[in-house]
Amino acid sequence: MKPYKVALLANLKKNAPHFDGMAADQWDDLDSEKTVNALVEAIRAGGYICEFLEGDLTLFDTLRSFKPDICFNIAEGHFGDARESHVPSILEMMRIPYSGSKVLTLALALDKPMTKRVIAFHNLPTPDFQTFERVDEELSPEMKFPLFVKPSREGTGMGVSRNSIVYNEKEMREQIALMVEKYKQPVLAERYIEGREVTVGFVGNLVGPVAKRVPDNEQASRIQEGLHFFPPMEVDLSPFSDSDTVYSNRLKVDLADKLNYLCPAPITPEQKNELTWLAAAVFRVIGALDVSRVDFRLDVHDNYKPYILEINPLPGLSPIISDLVIEAAGEGIGHTELVNMILETALRRYGMI
Ligand SMILES: Nc1ncnc2c1ncn2[C@@H]1O[C@H](COP(=O)(O)OP(=O)(O)O)[C@@H](O)[C@H]1O
Ligand SMILES: [Mg+2]
Repeated sequence: MKPYKVALLANLKKNAPHFDGMAADQWDDLDSEKTVNALVEAIRAGGYICEFLEGDLTLFDTLRSFKPDICFNIAEGHFGDARESHVPSILEMMRIPYSGSKVLTLALALDKPMTKRVIAFHNLPTPDFQTFERVDEELSPEMKFPLFVKPSREGTGMGVSRNSIVYNEKEMREQIALMVEKYKQPVLAERYIEGREVTVGFVGNLVGPVAKRVPDNEQASRIQEGLHFFPPMEVDLSPFSDSDTVYSNRLKVDLADKLNYLCPAPITPEQKNELTWLAAAVFRVIGALDVSRVDFRLDVHDNYKPYILEINPLPGLSPIISDLVIEAAGEGIGHTELVNMILETALRRYGMI
């Protein structure tokens, strides 16, 4: 069989557009050349022909000339409230197979409040929340301080710092005003979960009929079938207890190589089972494919009860530093192998291998 041609679709930080009034961290979740080159090399090492194509409007032409059999998509997109779904939309229109989740799921998961509505609808645990489109909207009486304030549609800890934890209404309004001004989007206020930070990454697809709901009791234990879970990872925030008690933009971007990652996380087998089950359930209800990482906080005041903060259907894949890469390494799976596991999961889904 002739080796497949794979186009790696990503958005390079250095190609990102600049505009007046953009936030300093505007493109923090886009990829470096180093990451993109490492991904191309990893895919080539898997025996495929691979080229990088920038995930912008040039794709209409570059895809026609490269003619990939499949795309490895990690493009985060540039503009709008559904930017992560732009490249998959183009691929759907051109009928080109691609790895990872599709249009609806990527648009949904980018929007944290929308995703939380789906998660809460299925009775999965996520902190109580309220969305603010304007600074002066009334605070619901059910919302109890301290609260955690963050932008609705960003990643990589953008807008997240120690100031995100607010203890009274005045602090909350100030933080919401800052977030609205900086990111120009609705702001999410959630119950602040003081506790441990654990993230669960996995590759695979659910087997059998996939209704986008949590299955009945007798089928519940089977929900994880078809998914390969890497060991959960805990981010040890204790050395930063007087500066960053949360996994902030500063820690994720500036201090990533100074953080202590505990992988496997020091949790009991029962806790691990609960986290992987919840991760599979979120993956299922939002209709994700091939790969994801689910971020949790374990509530120190409630016997480390897990709360789902978000699901990342396009988890970072930078060698060494990305959470998913650290988790795979936790079971001896290197970057090249991880990338090829994701690609093969997609090829299998399309019946191409
Ligand atoms: N409700 C919350 N309670 C406590 N910490 C939170 C809460 N929401 C977010 N955080 C902290 O902020 C970090 C980033 O939030 P997250 O929702 O995962 O966004 P991002 O997309 O930036 O990773 C989390 O890893 C956690 O440390
Ligand atoms: Mg996160």
